Amino acid sequence: MAIELAPLPLPPTADQAKFDSDFGREVKGISPGELTPDQFQEIHDALYKHSALLFRDVTLTPEQQYALTKAFDPEAESYGHGNHKTQSTKKSILHPDLKTIPRVPQVQLIGNGTVTNHEGLESAALKHPSHTTFHKTKVSEEDEAAGITRFYRWHIDAALYDYSPPRVTTLYGITVPQGPQQKVRYDDGTGDELTVPLGTTAFVSGKKMFDLLPPKLKSLAVRTKVRYAPHPYVWMAPARAVSTGLGIENDGLELPLNELPEWEESKVMTLPILWKNPVTGGLHFQVHPCGAQELEITALPQVIAREGALYPDGGRITDLAEVRALLYKMQRPAIAPELVYPHDWKERDLVLFHNRGVLHTVVGAFKPDQVRAFHQCNLAASDVPVGPTEEDVLDVCLANA
Ligand SMILES: [Fe+2]
Repeated sequence: MAIELAPLPLPPTADQAKFDSDFGREVKGISPGELTPDQFQEIHDALYKHSALLFRDVTLTPEQQYALTKAFDPEAESYGHGNHKTQSTKKSILHPDLKTIPRVPQVQLIGNGTVTNHEGLESAALKHPSHTTFHKTKVSEEDEAAGITRFYRWHIDAALYDYSPPRVTTLYGITVPQGPQQKVRYDDGTGDELTVPLGTTAFVSGKKMFDLLPPKLKSLAVRTKVRYAPHPYVWMAPARAVSTGLGIENDGLELPLNELPEWEESKVMTLPILWKNPVTGGLHFQVHPCGAQELEITALPQVIAREGALYPDGGRITDLAEVRALLYKMQRPAIAPELVYPHDWKERDLVLFHNRGVLHTVVGAFKPDQVRAFHQCNLAASDVPVGPTEEDVLDVCLANA
């Protein structure tokens, strides 16, 4: 049976005219756990072209999910944040950290509530991440009861230290609680809101994020690299996020570098803002705003007029508030309600997404008795993301001078 790619139905909140028409496809007529090499090649190319692929009514073992994920990067071995060590506390009845599938440590069990007798796990207590423990401010209890929520944290799946950002993430919805829709409030003074399915995963296109930029910021983005903090998730742990989940507030709460676990300069990641799509050649704005610490800007190519350009001679921005303000200015337009794809999960949905081409976030809040079980897999990549070529830099700067 031939592979059929059907457009993903966009929610009524999406603006069809502004939405990247290439974004998202439902794949029909194929079993993702049993692809032939030719079929895999089609899926591979479709993923890079469309950023997210949905398969419905899928049966997929953790082994098959790992194999499918690994097929995108055959030399990759470990989970995106490194494989968990075998826990010595396996016998505990409820161990909150016991979320790795024992036989396939690259596959993680994520979700909400208590899951028992699951793929070799006797019992796992899962907690859907909530903005209330991460944002500086939170919606009131009354609002939360009325279904108001927030984006949790816009991100790329990546350790951003030592391990290279995975190419692809696979998410398999096994138990999906149904419930009323929730409303994401941006709470940033814009009045922006977005109605979403309960427990959605929301995606935005990194390509759109770049394409939306005004000329001066395009010219800057193509010349800029982000230096991430060492052990960024430890560094940012005491800090709190902005209300859109798109970065950290400037309260000086980050852990000082000398209080971090041991780290070495060679493992610190400095990555271009724009990552080049290996199939389409498109440039995707791929920055994890919470972990960013500094920006390194190269000078405009000699042939480009300097007048009016931002940082024409290059430079280094080390002031955290300045780094964050600049990134926020560049990233916020792309998370506008009409540009977000909030996936409406059904049981046995498998979503593959191009982790080097989109940003995504957990959304919403579950009650403790709403059980949700997903398998997630991504692999620390065997290579680093490729930034713009010299020709890209010249083309973008010329077109936006
Ligand atoms: Fe993620």
